[in-house]
Amino acid sequence: MKAAQLSAIGPAEKTVQCVDVPDPGAPGPGEVLVDVVACSINPADILSIEGQYATKPTPPCPLGIEGAGTVAAVGEGVTQLKVGDKVMSLVRTNWVQRIRDKAQAFVRLPADVDLAQAAMLKVNVATAHLMLTRYVDLKRGDWVIQNAANSGVGVDLIRLARASGVRSVNVVRRAALIDELKQIGADVVVVDGPDLAQRVAEATGGATIGLGIDAVAGAAVGRLAQCVSEGGTVINYGLMSGEPIQIDAFHFVFRDIRLVGFWLAKLMRTMTFDEIQSMYGALAARLVDGTIHVAVEASYPLERVAEAMAHAKRESRGGKVQLRPNS
Ligand SMILES: NC(=O)c1ccc[n+]([C@@H]2O[C@H](COP(=O)([O-])OP(=O)(O)OC[C@H]3O[C@@H](n4cnc5c(N)ncnc54)[C@H](OP(=O)(O)O)[C@@H]3O)[C@@H](O)[C@H]2O)c1
Repeated sequence: MKAAQLSAIGPAEKTVQCVDVPDPGAPGPGEVLVDVVACSINPADILSIEGQYATKPTPPCPLGIEGAGTVAAVGEGVTQLKVGDKVMSLVRTNWVQRIRDKAQAFVRLPADVDLAQAAMLKVNVATAHLMLTRYVDLKRGDWVIQNAANSGVGVDLIRLARASGVRSVNVVRRAALIDELKQIGADVVVVDGPDLAQRVAEATGGATIGLGIDAVAGAAVGRLAQCVSEGGTVINYGLMSGEPIQIDAFHFVFRDIRLVGFWLAKLMRTMTFDEIQSMYGALAARLVDGTIHVAVEASYPLERVAEAMAHAKRESRGGKVQLRPNS
């Protein structure tokens, strides 16, 4: 079967190739075999491939944090999954045609879920959901502010906030995104800039903003901290700028702003399989009812994985880039 493989740490478009690897074979007791239908290419995949992530891969090795597909075969003793079930995988080696693993490595999804959307559930939807619910007790009518608001996480966050009655301020880099984000439920959309706090205060009528969510780091998180009200929390979960976090000490000393980091992989290690399954079950229902939807800009077969890597690294995309291993 075909798989994407990392040959060396370095630029993703040069170091990830499509190779032939042995078929995983029939599932053993307690295992299932899954045909992978769709995989997303996330910034975390690129950071990992290029040696800038918390964990470094050891090439040659398989790749791919997210994937969704259908169960092709089940081994003896497996009762929770059956052939034809749609599943999302919890493994981090998804850019392959088939995965054989223990049944607990997969979460069963509703039969009518779109697998391209399901391939974005594990990382970004869960990230948006957990950041919105675990740090600040946001009630209906409360405000949250985020940057990189047109990202996969950002779009999920807009939609989840809207569904729970929380109002969102969304910071982007391009004015062309304003109408698009408002159409999916953003209350306020502003283009980043030095006077961000002033414009946000004007747009929200000086509302209290208890939570700021930052994917960019650098000076952008400092501008976000300025928008958050006294005693509020800023979550940093991404480093799109590649710059160190820059927040004026004023906000910590005089305004009692709290800065916390978020890493899904670490948080999930504290959750039981039942908790994980129940969280993804509830979020998958949101995919099916249309609450959550993220655009896919392009899909590539594994044979064109290098092209897919280059595409995923482009700025100003209109959606996610995915792999379709069995297309
Ligand atoms: N900590 C965690 O557990 C966790 C989990 C999920 C995601 N993440 C992180 O969340 C971030 C977003 O991930 P995603 O999959 O949602 O991303 P995505 O869909 O690939 O979108 C990337 C976003 O980053 C913006 N961007 C790129 N370079 C930038 C820069 N230099 N300054 C400001 N914005 C920039 C893009 O804006 P343009 O459209 O204007 O280019 C776009 O909004 C990434 O940093 C990712 O690593 C972290």
